[in-house]
Amino acid sequence: YHVDWDTTAAEKDGYDWFMRKEIFEQPKAISDTLLGRYSPQGELTLDEIHISPETLRRVNKIIILGCGTAHYAGMVAKYAIEHWVRIPCEVELASEFRYRDPIVDSQTLCVAISQSGETADTLQAIRHAREQGAKVIAICNTNGSTIPRESDAVIYTYAGPEIGVASTKGFTTQLIACYLLGLYLAQVRGMKFGDEIRTIMDELEAMPAKMQSVLDHADQIYTLAKGMEDEEDFIFIGRHVGYPIALEGALKLKEIAYLHAEGFAAGELKHGPIAIINPGMPVFAVVPPQGRDQLHDKVVSNIQEVRARGARTIAVAEQDDNEVDQFAEVVISLPKVSTLLQPVLAVVPLQLFACEIATLLGNDVDQPRNLAKSVTVE
Ligand code: G6P
Repeated sequence: YHVDWDTTAAEKDGYDWFMRKEIFEQPKAISDTLLGRYSPQGELTLDEIHISPETLRRVNKIIILGCGTAHYAGMVAKYAIEHWVRIPCEVELASEFRYRDPIVDSQTLCVAISQSGETADTLQAIRHAREQGAKVIAICNTNGSTIPRESDAVIYTYAGPEIGVASTKGFTTQLIACYLLGLYLAQVRGMKFGDEIRTIMDELEAMPAKMQSVLDHADQIYTLAKGMEDEEDFIFIGRHVGYPIALEGALKLKEIAYLHAEGFAAGELKHGPIAIINPGMPVFAVVPPQGRDQLHDKVVSNIQEVRARGARTIAVAEQDDNEVDQFAEVVISLPKVSTLLQPVLAVVPLQLFACEIATLLGNDVDQPRNLAKSVTVE
């Protein structure tokens, strides 16, 4: 009598892929990343930031560096940090940064985002920044890895080990860490929005439960994916913080489904991308919350524009969005959150969609061809 005991299957906890398991671990990963960083008195405590408040008050420019998914987390961070902290903030691909003679000095704060902490491009970028006298804060998921060791401070994400090559819980916890950093900088610099910090922190603390409710509807995404695996091109559009989410949704499909997918800023459609819309082409639109945001109506118009050209429109939108309901063919609903935080929820259906399409295609979701989990060469 012999029982096959597959240890990998056991580690996967009944899931077919580490990636799918990691997608479902996100509510916990987020709450772990928030844990102990906000006091009941309404103060953010990022003890690991060993950069003095005086130094942080002198910062006049922030440069966020990362590669791949981490770069997209940085794009979201720029919107949040500039809005809350009012310091000019650039986001740059780490591989581009040091080769263009960037303007960096002792009043520059660099934020290096890296799940693995070993990405060579990001490491070289922070070395360059520090040589110019900049302070570097790492946002990293891997304790003791090279990037945090070579940084002035680190904010760890507590996603736990990420095995799937395509980053999921790494990304959403990076978003959380970026929000915390933004709020912390605002606090240190004495910004007059104490109540707003409180409101945002309350929203962040409610996020794990909201994300769970998105995951509870995973079946809707799986049903949507069925039959779509034969499509050859996928378009993702979004604006403001929805733009990086469109890029991330497209990246996930490229990475594991090997399909041609592109993300566009929705406002740019008319400057070119709309010309490639063919009848039947799936277009995913990340829609900003209704009512609070004039961008909402613009993205809804974009949905109508691509639909008029025959696109198959799938909207990721806030629940009870009665306009999106009228115009998009399929609506994936998200719980209500403020615009800047919506990426944390909006990315989840896109992760599930890519995972499902890649599974239907018979690909190795956890070990996609030609890719590595951490890229330690430039
Ligand atoms: C590789 C991985 C991506 C990841 C990127 C940056 O390309 O396949 O999933 O987003 O590196 O990795 P890092 O560890 O620096 O976040």
